[in-house]
Amino acid sequence: MSYLLLYSTQDGQTKKIITRIAENLRRAGVECDLRDLATVKQVNLMPYHKVMVGASIRYGHFNSALYKFAIHHQKQLKQMPTAFFGVNLTARKPEKRTPETNAYIRKFLMKSPWQPDLCDVFAGALLYPRYRWCDRIMIQFIMRMTGGETDTTKEIEYTDWEQVDRFSETFLQISCDKKPEK
Ligand SMILES: Cc1cc2nc3c(=O)[nH]c(=O)nc-3n(C[C@H](O)[C@H](O)[C@H](O)COP(=O)(O)O)c2cc1C
Repeated sequence: MSYLLLYSTQDGQTKKIITRIAENLRRAGVECDLRDLATVKQVNLMPYHKVMVGASIRYGHFNSALYKFAIHHQKQLKQMPTAFFGVNLTARKPEKRTPETNAYIRKFLMKSPWQPDLCDVFAGALLYPRYRWCDRIMIQFIMRMTGGETDTTKEIEYTDWEQVDRFSETFLQISCDKKPEK
């Protein structure tokens, strides 16, 4: 079994999450290739049994590389088991941490021609000291408006690693039987 895991990240949290998923899958005996969506020009899905994509939100949007990938590979993606997860700070609130309640995931699923078999959303990390000055001020403003952390000396990881591990397990269990054309 060979799986392709693709990620889109700005500050590394999505890469950290998908690396943990890859470790879980490898422990279960699966071969995993990990690739950055921003740097893969041509990706061949043919050799893989399953595909997973993870992407983070920046100022309300996923990287355009995600949509390009979904559009370009939609036919193949419909014929194989696939999973998608989004990473953002809105999901630090448990009530915004499901695909149904997280606005970014809902919007993605409405726009994307690819509808993954498995979908989830994980809380990301708030890394004030690493942000550029203008981003730090903007994120602090958003945090103030939404009742979050405003101390710009802090770095907080909100990711629920047990949720990530459950997602890996569910992905493992999706059947590899060929899907009928949708
Ligand atoms: C400049 C910037 C803009 C962000 N915009 C949003 C946003 O609009 N909504 C949100 O929920 N989280 C937002 N976040 C939080 C990120 O999605 C979160 O930090 C995530 O962990 C980033 O993942 P990455 O390191 O893989 O890029 C933003 C973070 C930064 C630094």
